[in-house]
Amino acid sequence: MRAVKRIAVLVSGGGTNLQALIDAQRRGEIVGGEIAAVISSKPGAYALERARRAGIPGYVVSRKDYDTNQAMTAALVDKLSGLDIDLVVLAGFMVIFTREMVDAYPNAILNVHPALIPSFCGKGYYGLHVHERALEYGVKVSGATVHFVSEECDGGPIVLQKAVAVEENDTPETLQRRIMEQAEWVILPRAVSLFCQGRLKVEGRTVRILKPLNLSKECLQ
Ligand code: GAR
Repeated sequence: MRAVKRIAVLVSGGGTNLQALIDAQRRGEIVGGEIAAVISSKPGAYALERARRAGIPGYVVSRKDYDTNQAMTAALVDKLSGLDIDLVVLAGFMVIFTREMVDAYPNAILNVHPALIPSFCGKGYYGLHVHERALEYGVKVSGATVHFVSEECDGGPIVLQKAVAVEENDTPETLQRRIMEQAEWVILPRAVSLFCQGRLKVEGRTVRILKPLNLSKECLQ
């Protein structure tokens, strides 16, 4: 097993979650992993600029260049294997890929979703729409989830969740921002670091978080 895991972050937009990962990496909080590539489904995504500024190679695999989701997925898998990637992180990646991706990276794709799964998730629940639906429903608490990606949209085993209070005068935009700041930007880097340390054990639908390896006395001498 490789000592430092190579991470690819897949993006489609502004890339604030990518930025949270870059900042965590700078602080030494992504233990056992390094962001080796950023891949965008949109050529003009600001996330690519964030990657450039951080000195991380950026690539575009645009949905428009392929006739089907399956063809795009095949191109993505090719790109990822060419880059020798160990962990794929979906950080605001807005294309639903086909099963070939999950087959190529079983329990090695993490996604951040801006709600407490199984609420407000699945097809059609992405970006601001998630927060619009949560406010329409009148929930008092929402939050974010990091989960492994399986064939079912937003249905894979949950790694971490964090709740965030909904406030009386929230708009979708204010709720989105609070959930990002208080939950997404906190739990995504944490989950990535746990994966890179080999501390996530998937048992059916449950993800167990293993304790860090303690160095033995001999190692410390
Ligand atoms: C984030 O809120 C992320 O959780 C959400 O899109 C936003 C991307 O923002 N993802 C989904 O809705 C996926 N179902 P970012 O580009 O600033 O990280």
